[in-house]
Amino acid sequence: MLPQTYVADLPERIGTEATVRGWVVTTRSSGKIAFMVLRDGTGYLQCVLGKQETDPETWERFRRAPQETAVAVTGMVREDARSPGGAELSVSAVEILGEAVDFPITPKEHGTAFLFEHRHLWLRSRRQVAIMQIRHEVVQAIRDFFYERHFVLVDTPILTGSIGESAGTLFETPYFDLGTAYLAQTGQLYLEAAAAALGRVYCFGPTFRAEKSKTRRHLTEFWMVEPEMAWYDSDDNMRLQEEFVSYIVGRCLERRAQDLLELERDTAPLERVAPPFHRLSYTEAIRMLQSLGSGIEWGADLGADEETTLASQYDRPVFVYDYPKAVRAFYMKENPADPRTVRNNDCLAPEGYGEIIGGSQREDDHDKLRARIRELGLPEENYAWYLDLRKFGTFVHSGFGLGVERTVAWICGMPHIREAIAFPRMMTKLYP
Ligand code: 4AD
Ligand code: MG
Repeated sequence: MLPQTYVADLPERIGTEATVRGWVVTTRSSGKIAFMVLRDGTGYLQCVLGKQETDPETWERFRRAPQETAVAVTGMVREDARSPGGAELSVSAVEILGEAVDFPITPKEHGTAFLFEHRHLWLRSRRQVAIMQIRHEVVQAIRDFFYERHFVLVDTPILTGSIGESAGTLFETPYFDLGTAYLAQTGQLYLEAAAAALGRVYCFGPTFRAEKSKTRRHLTEFWMVEPEMAWYDSDDNMRLQEEFVSYIVGRCLERRAQDLLELERDTAPLERVAPPFHRLSYTEAIRMLQSLGSGIEWGADLGADEETTLASQYDRPVFVYDYPKAVRAFYMKENPADPRTVRNNDCLAPEGYGEIIGGSQREDDHDKLRARIRELGLPEENYAWYLDLRKFGTFVHSGFGLGVERTVAWICGMPHIREAIAFPRMMTKLYP
């Protein structure tokens, strides 16, 4: 193999010869000079070849290389202030490594259905590459945030025996002689066990919900990060969330400015993301919605429209806290100040993106939790281990889950979350 340089490293190689391998994005040529833009994953490189400086064969090979041909280009690295990376390549040799005939995705407009059928190739387009880079930054920021704060990563199982969130959206699979296993809707319950061992923990992995809704916000497989903290009440929980979300957004602004530019993202709303976020109780939210003309009544869950209306009243994310017990999961702590409600919160992103986080303080009273499990008709025997946590040193604790794709969609300014993951899984999508 040739010694190789990555596009991102070229600014340090000015004045030397380098070989770069990648895929042809575009070519254009006049009578005397030809240009090729190359993508290698670390960046884009403009390669320049003068007709006078080369043989006819190289000239033709270079200027006629079809879109997405895999090539190795060798030449002198030159400073170029206009290019984003600050360098271009004065080409002396070009080798075709892999031909590409009639790449189906051209710079013209394609329909969404066509693009998703060709997702394996569509990923190479500039926009998609920028989105994947931002997703990568979000994921790394998440890991760094918890690592810096001494949270311990605990990987929770994907095959589970108990319902984590709601029975309505379970994927089931036969499981040997033990009956049915479910694909995890959350790692939270297991994480609560780990929090009693390690204090502050998190899990991060794929999560499954058999969502029959075809909305802009739902996938059947998505990535969720869930921290769980011993000795945090609901207010502590929200403080951690605002710090966390601000950290993630800040990292993208700092390190992924070029990708945000590629996506033509207006970064002004992102610059405003800093603690403290706005806080609104559910009851206040209902009043606000009613005063804005909504017909919603106390007790109903907030839908996407209500979330959008609420969030649009504010210039940064907003917490809505203390929802009615009836519209939230069984494990949430009853609110001592109003037992009709629980000590939970959602975090709504601005600009109409809606819920990116769901979190709560957990019910730490054994009898209350057992009563709730019974009330909801959940199979109590599957929760025996979970109830044990309330028998042996029960403790105040809270946690939350942040959806990676919703967060990425918001940061990228995309109306739909399906482009926020490389191969989205939805009710109607399993290929490619
Ligand atoms: O609000 P949810 O259901 O909360 C939980 O699962 C808790 N166990 C979290 C916890 O307290 N540890 O989901 C959390 C987040 C949502 O706010 C949303 O961002 C994302 O997960 N999410 C989805 N993202 C894409 N597609 C779906 N179908 C999603 N369902 C939830
Ligand atoms: Mg939720």
